[in-house]
Amino acid sequence: MARSTNYDINGFTEDQHWRDIQQDVGILGNSETIRQLIETIDQVARTDISILITGESGTGKELVAKALHQRSKRRNEPLITVNSGAIPEGILESELFGHEKGSFTGAVGPRKGYFELADKGSIFLDEIGDLPLTIQVKLLRVLEGREFMRVGGTAAHQVDVRFITATNKNLEEEVRRGQFRQDLYYRLNAMHIRVPGLRERKEDIPLLVKKFAADFSRENHIEFNGFDDSALFALQQYSWPGNIRELRNTVEKAIVMERGQRITEMVLKKYIQSTDQRSHALPVPINKPKDEIEREFLLRLLLEIKSEISQLRELVLSGVRIPYRLGPWREEFPAEYAEQISIEDSEEQKQGRSIAEVERELIIDTLMRTGGNKRKTAEILGMSERTLYRKINRYGLRRGRS
Ligand SMILES: Nc1ncnc2c1ncn2[C@@H]1O[C@H](COP(=O)(O)OP(=O)(O)OP(=O)(O)O)[C@@H](O)[C@H]1O
Ligand SMILES: [Mg+2]
Repeated sequence: MARSTNYDINGFTEDQHWRDIQQDVGILGNSETIRQLIETIDQVARTDISILITGESGTGKELVAKALHQRSKRRNEPLITVNSGAIPEGILESELFGHEKGSFTGAVGPRKGYFELADKGSIFLDEIGDLPLTIQVKLLRVLEGREFMRVGGTAAHQVDVRFITATNKNLEEEVRRGQFRQDLYYRLNAMHIRVPGLRERKEDIPLLVKKFAADFSRENHIEFNGFDDSALFALQQYSWPGNIRELRNTVEKAIVMERGQRITEMVLKKYIQSTDQRSHALPVPINKPKDEIEREFLLRLLLEIKSEISQLRELVLSGVRIPYRLGPWREEFPAEYAEQISIEDSEEQKQGRSIAEVERELIIDTLMRTGGNKRKTAEILGMSERTLYRKINRYGLRRGRS
């Protein structure tokens, strides 16, 4: 299993227990979504409940399956992974359940199947949606009675395995289409873990990029000069249809092709698929949920504002009253999105507000957007974490334990 024991995630979470689990299972990420995922894994891993993992390709389903085994009481027993979609239908049954000597041409001796090999451990049936109906019936029998027969055999074999399955298909849809047995679906889906797409947790991208870049350049002895902020930001704007697998490939490709040179947004464009080159391109694509568009705009806006903050600080020293928002962003925004960002021109705003008010609101906005992550907030606003804490105190934004 990919491990992250050498990677320093200190400072990303104050919760030692959670960090320990994360290091143990090698699932990187600091977003609330990943945190919840890891907590769920830890809770359910200790039971023998069957688990169905769903998620788009490249999101880390296999990593989750390994983590479930790793955190279970069966961790010292085998984890057998079966890619149900890759094994030809003709030999799938004997691969899974084994066969007796002479049961078919070529069966020169008895052979154990994956279930027997997984005894006392876990079996991970990947791409379960591709399983033929004939095998589905047999699988159901194992799930219900914990026993099966080898191909060509007459004796029942007992087996003690924990079921973990995964698919990127919509199994409910497959059930409706008659391609997947409903009874089996219910059995496998005793507990469902959905692995989120990378675009649902973009805040994890810089962390993942840095880790993949560090691993890759170390393994390949490349002196790599890193990604600059504009490149990291552009990486967060892309929709990553191939999820983490695509992100890792992109990072590695860019490092090799650029021979370790520092990577800027301009350079990066060569390596991100051109169909999704929209990071800074207006008008806005309309095939995305509005809240996602809003989030992207807001991040972009915050970066633009970041460069204005230092100017604003100087202004405040001279006591000048300033307009609520500076810069050309307003013209660029289609009215409907500007509205969603909920910046409306109240009388007070039209008259102008003090820098402290603007700054206070900006900090609140950013804290909300980062889910209260102060490190990330400070990074976006271009200030040190210490300065951010001072401002939080000064503006009375502290609530409860932080
Ligand atoms: N949270 C994560 N942290 C670090 N690496 C990850 C994470 N999630 C996935 N990866 C890496 O991304 C790659 C793809 O993950 P994995 O093979 O588990 O995806 P998958 O969902 O099974 O994809 P597919 O449906 O195509 O089989 C692997 O190299 C894996 O190690
Ligand atoms: Mg997989």
